[in-house]
Amino acid sequence: MRHSNTRLEHTPREGRSVQAFAPGRVNLIGEHTDYNDGLCLPFAVERGVSVTAEPAPGREIETHALDLDEHDRFELDGEIESGDGWRRFVRGAVAELQREGIELRPCSLTITGDLPRGSGLSSSAAVCVSLCLALCAIAEAQPPEPIALARLCSRIENDWTGAQTGLLDQLAALCGKRGHAVRIDMRGPRLRTIPLDLADHALAVVDSGASRNIAVSGYNERREECRAACRELGVDSLRDATGSEGLPEPLDRRVRHVIAENDRVDAAVAALEAGDLAGLGRLLDTSHRSLRDDYEVSVPEVERAVQECRRAGALGARIMGGGFGGSVLALFHGDAQLPPGAVSVEPGPAARLL
Ligand code: GLA
Repeated sequence: MRHSNTRLEHTPREGRSVQAFAPGRVNLIGEHTDYNDGLCLPFAVERGVSVTAEPAPGREIETHALDLDEHDRFELDGEIESGDGWRRFVRGAVAELQREGIELRPCSLTITGDLPRGSGLSSSAAVCVSLCLALCAIAEAQPPEPIALARLCSRIENDWTGAQTGLLDQLAALCGKRGHAVRIDMRGPRLRTIPLDLADHALAVVDSGASRNIAVSGYNERREECRAACRELGVDSLRDATGSEGLPEPLDRRVRHVIAENDRVDAAVAALEAGDLAGLGRLLDTSHRSLRDDYEVSVPEVERAVQECRRAGALGARIMGGGFGGSVLALFHGDAQLPPGAVSVEPGPAARLL
């Protein structure tokens, strides 16, 4: 089934508060492929970030980050300064929406969520998406359609926080569907929902305990290596690379990962469609080895979490998300005793107004 690119529901409610919710995401497979015009297979999870907006007098945006008990306040008009920490998301969301010509209104925002930050479940994208939906709703403005909004949210991360992330997290949050994963071909992008039927198996995430901040991890360096490999190969993106022969170390291994990981996404779709969960587990393991040895984004804490999952009988386990810490994703039999701290994850609905 093709994903319909419909506009997000929006119901203006004069003088009343609005609440938006955006989910985190799990990426089943297809890691570090999004910014290489490649394939990935994420799903939105039930947990996420919600933003409540209430009309406020004056010309300011006030924000309360409830879980941190921190505040921010800035003028809606004129040049918006970037601020620090989480404030960059709010200021970036306001500035980027205004740049699209959306007329925002002064309001008071409250942000809260149940996604662990820095754990690879995309709390940053969930914050951006939820903020944009709440800011548009309180202003009685139509938000950009999902793919345009995903791009706008990605600009908030790229230009306001310095994390050169791709579109994976934002598209998963905006286009996820209950019970489904989304095969995303970043060329386009083109999206196709795939039923995530795991029969008597379950997916779980384990936080490695190594928290990472994408802007200061090796993530941006990997992106730069991919650009360098494109220059060497004379291609616009690694989606067009057919091999890694002749490339200098470590660019050859980076390219090998990207090419093989794209293939694994379609192999995973085929395994799901055939109900071959053992095959899906093997693909998770192969992806992990490639991310550890060729892409080099693993750390000892992640390796320990992967080993724990294997000891607990996982059919497959791999590092998930940007790497350099964060969470491990593993596939278990339904009756397995999950390792300590493991949390089962299921595909939930996309971002929405509540
Ligand atoms: C992070 C980024 C995504 C993607 C993944 C790796 O989650 O935000 O854009 O690059 O890492 O697949």
